[in-house]
Amino acid sequence: MVDASSGALSGRSALITGAGSGIGRETALRMAEAGAHVVVCERDEAAGNATVEQIAASGGRGLLVVADVSDDVAMQSAVDKTLRDTGGLHILFNNAGIFPDADGSPVDTPMDVWHQVIDVNLKGVFLGCKYGIPAMLASGGGSIINTASFVALIGAATSQIAYTASKGGVLAMTREIAVEYARQGIRANALCPGPVRTPLLEDLLSDPAARERRLVHIPMGRLAEASEIARAVLFLASPESSYVTGTTFVVDGGITAAYVTPE
Ligand SMILES: NC(=O)c1ccc[n+]([C@@H]2O[C@H](COP(=O)([O-])OP(=O)(O)OC[C@H]3O[C@@H](n4cnc5c(N)ncnc54)[C@H](O)[C@@H]3O)[C@@H](O)[C@H]2O)c1
Repeated sequence: MVDASSGALSGRSALITGAGSGIGRETALRMAEAGAHVVVCERDEAAGNATVEQIAASGGRGLLVVADVSDDVAMQSAVDKTLRDTGGLHILFNNAGIFPDADGSPVDTPMDVWHQVIDVNLKGVFLGCKYGIPAMLASGGGSIINTASFVALIGAATSQIAYTASKGGVLAMTREIAVEYARQGIRANALCPGPVRTPLLEDLLSDPAARERRLVHIPMGRLAEASEIARAVLFLASPESSYVTGTTFVVDGGITAAYVTPE
């Protein structure tokens, strides 16, 4: 149990999309521990509820909004509810993302999969910003963290073309938002995690050969834990990063720095 009233984020309201699992859940728990009033925005009600219950069990404040980030009306009401029930919006973590198996090469990826991935991963971030920015301005400013990926920075021969394109879009969009709102008290940064041990990668990890193919490219020789990504998000969300905006914030165990990795 923590005393959230004296934490680094006390008095702040945080809206986190996809907070029912993986990086989003880990970040929601940590932000609540740091004193933020956390709005868990999830399309999976049971998963979102489990996060809210965990927040409550450790003495924090959380509430659930069931919403699909690609749904314009749902995202507008998620932001409205955040303002109404928490009194402001200071931290917006646009984290929800999908990675379907059928997303492959440009030649093979079906059109419906392309649209689905772009809708969630790119339009979802856009909608979070579209409705979140006015709410944040009305709350006196804040910090936006949009989840891109290391695949927005370097290419892979086994592509996930829609996913990669969506993350490149998130990166470019975030830079522009950072520049446009820098003098109005809003910071915006794009988070680029390397591969993280979450349900999103669990299928891949079950195949030892595929696992090895990934690990060989990571200088640290291991996947990230969700908590290691959450700590970076907390930094970007807090006043500790007050002069950090418009960055491509890479947390990737050295992947993008490497040409050849150690044996
Ligand atoms: N796991 C990785 O290796 C990795 C690496 C780089 C970037 N990322 C990015 O980090 C983010 C989080 O990934 P994760 O690994 O924690 O994923 P995850 O699958 O563990 O969790 C994603 C959560 O988002 C929710 N979600 C999915 N679509 C949604 C929608 N349309 N509306 C609302 N909620 C929705 C899911 O229900 C789930 O709870 C994603 O944007 C992902 O692309 C992940």
